Parts: sequence; structure tokens; C-alpha cells
Amino acid sequence: MDNLIEKLEKTRSLTLGEYKALIDAFCPELAKVLAEKADAVRRRVYGNKVFIRGLIEVSNICKNDCFYCGIRASNKKCDRYRISADEILECAREGYKLGFRTFVLQGGEDGYFTDERVEDIIKRIKAEMPDCAVTLSLGERSKDSYQRLFDAGADRYLLRHETADSGHYGKLHPSELSLENRMNCLRALREIGYQVGCGFMVGSPYQTNEHIAKDLKFIEEFQPDMCGIGPFIPHKDTPFAEFSAGTAEFTCYLLSIVRLICPEVLLPATTALGSIKEGGREEGSQAGANVVMPNLSPKSVREKYMLYNNKLSSGDEAAEAVRELDKKIRSVGYEIVTDRGDRRKEK
Ligand code: 5AD
Repeated sequence: MDNLIEKLEKTRSLTLGEYKALIDAFCPELAKVLAEKADAVRRRVYGNKVFIRGLIEVSNICKNDCFYCGIRASNKKCDRYRISADEILECAREGYKLGFRTFVLQGGEDGYFTDERVEDIIKRIKAEMPDCAVTLSLGERSKDSYQRLFDAGADRYLLRHETADSGHYGKLHPSELSLENRMNCLRALREIGYQVGCGFMVGSPYQTNEHIAKDLKFIEEFQPDMCGIGPFIPHKDTPFAEFSAGTAEFTCYLLSIVRLICPEVLLPATTALGSIKEGGREEGSQAGANVVMPNLSPKSVREKYMLYNNKLSSGDEAAEAVRELDKKIRSVGYEIVTDRGDRRKEK
């Protein structure tokens, strides 16, 4: 194993078989070794800074029917909402006062959010808060649409690839959705000039270590600017209700490996990681993550954006939540900064 780790540190690249061997070797002792190495890399590139992103969940209306997701179209128990452009601006203003310089507009694939409407929102945020980055996380759209939103001022786009194995992709999604289209979207975003984020769930149903090896190889080749990795957590009103959740420990192990593959990647300690284990986000930070994404959505809709059960959505005021988070992050040796937090390019 020492040889593999040394190779990974030196070349930032392993073969599929080597990734598989490294994943198979997961145990608490090795996780600790990799977390220390990942933390050293992260500190070399980003110091002890943690970037915060204000997450604004704009709509839980979605035309897709992903088997794992609580806001899937056929979940009739989901109480649907969308927030208005004015409310989105209000959330951003509130966030700005608290030190946020990136806003993430995330939502289901809701046809209401046409190019015109999203362009308008982006332009309003940028006009009022020109020193902020706007990140979109609005699912699959046409290249034309991505281009228009980029031209309107969007800086970054998050679109998790979910799994890099097409067979596994087919087990998590209905047949209308394909890995091929997902990858085409990611490539289009990259070509247009966005900072692009991919990512996957850990412990999703039917996932094997071979699949995860492919995820890591894809990340190595694609070189994303951002990478969202969190545990799968079952939602009771989905076909995957009876499956078990991924673990925080294995998620942190994979975060460390991703930090070693891509030293400059912006790597969030996800809400799902914080939801599955008390202190999960702090552990993620110690394993190589350098981003947290507190919720800035209006309180009235927070419990409605339930991708999975027991999602952290503490009824806290955003301000209070940031203070709490800052305390926790400081307790493990990092600090939250007021910064757009763009991806650093080494060399
Ligand atoms: N558990 C964990 N993560 C989930 N997501 C969706 N449903 C779940 C779930 N049940 C993740 C997906 C999606 C992101 C917004 O949330 O990876 O891309």
C-alpha cells in the first residue's frame, strides 16, 4: 500500500486497478494516514482557510425521477415550492452581510427557471454585489442555455456526475437519463469557461468499489474545479427507502484521495456528511475538504428541500448558523474567510 500512496502523491494518477486496491484497503489506520497527507496538501495550497458558499435552494420542483432523491417528480408527498427572484436577492443580501461572496442557486429541474428568468436573477445579483461569484446548480440544460447563463455572469456550475459507470448510472436513474448526456453537459460547461464541479454519492445502492475506482479515474482525467462527495442517505418516500446509508468514515477516506489527485480542487464537506454524523463536516475538513455550504434559503422552505431524511436544516438564523460553524471550524484548526474562494492554480 505504501508504494501506491507514494505513487499517488508523486504522480496524482493511478490505474483503475490501483484505485480499486486503494479503495479495498480502506480501514481506520489507512484513513488516518491519507487524511494527514491530504490535510498537508490542502494547507500547502489553501492554508487553513475554509471558503463558505451561501446555498439558496430556489425550487424543489423537478421533472426528473432519480430513484434516490426525495424531490423526485413522482414523490407525491413532497410539498413543492419555488422562491421568487426578489426572495433570492433578499437571501443573497443577507448572506453578503454575513461575509458570503459566493451564492449557489440550486434547484430541481424546474421549467419555471427559463434562461430569461435565471439571466435576470444572475444580472441582479452581479449588479448589486459585483464582488461575488454566482454558482449554478440547476441540472441538465442545453449548451446554448449554459452559454446564455455564463454570458449573464454566472461563474461556476455544479453538476454531479453521480457515478462514472453507465450500468450503475442506469440503476440510480430512470431510462430517460443517461451518463452520456451527463458527461456531455459537463464537457459543454467546461468548454464555455465555467469553473465546473462534478461529484458522486458514497454508498449509493448497488455501488461497488469498481464503480468508485471509475469515479476517481474520471476525476483524475476531468480535473474538476470543484467536487461534491457526500454519503447517500435514504429518503423514506423513494424506491431506495430501505437501503442503508453510506458512512462518514468512508466518505472522508475518499475526500482525502480526491485531494491527493487534485491538490487545488475546491472540495466541500457536504451537508450530507454533516447530517450522517455529528461533527462530520469538521472531520471532512480534517480529511482534505476546504469548503462548506451553509443554507441561506428562507426558513419557511428549508424543511421542504429534503433530498434525504434527517438533512441538517437547523431552523437557525443564517447569521447564527455562520457563527456556530465558525466556532466549530476554528475548534479543529481552520478559519472561515470572506472571499469568493476561486480555485487556485498551482505552478
Ligand atoms: N442522499 C445523498 N445525496 C443525495 N442527493 C440526492 N439525493 C440524495 C440522497 N438521498 C445528492 C445528489 C445530487 C445532489 C444535489 O444531492 O448527488 O446531485
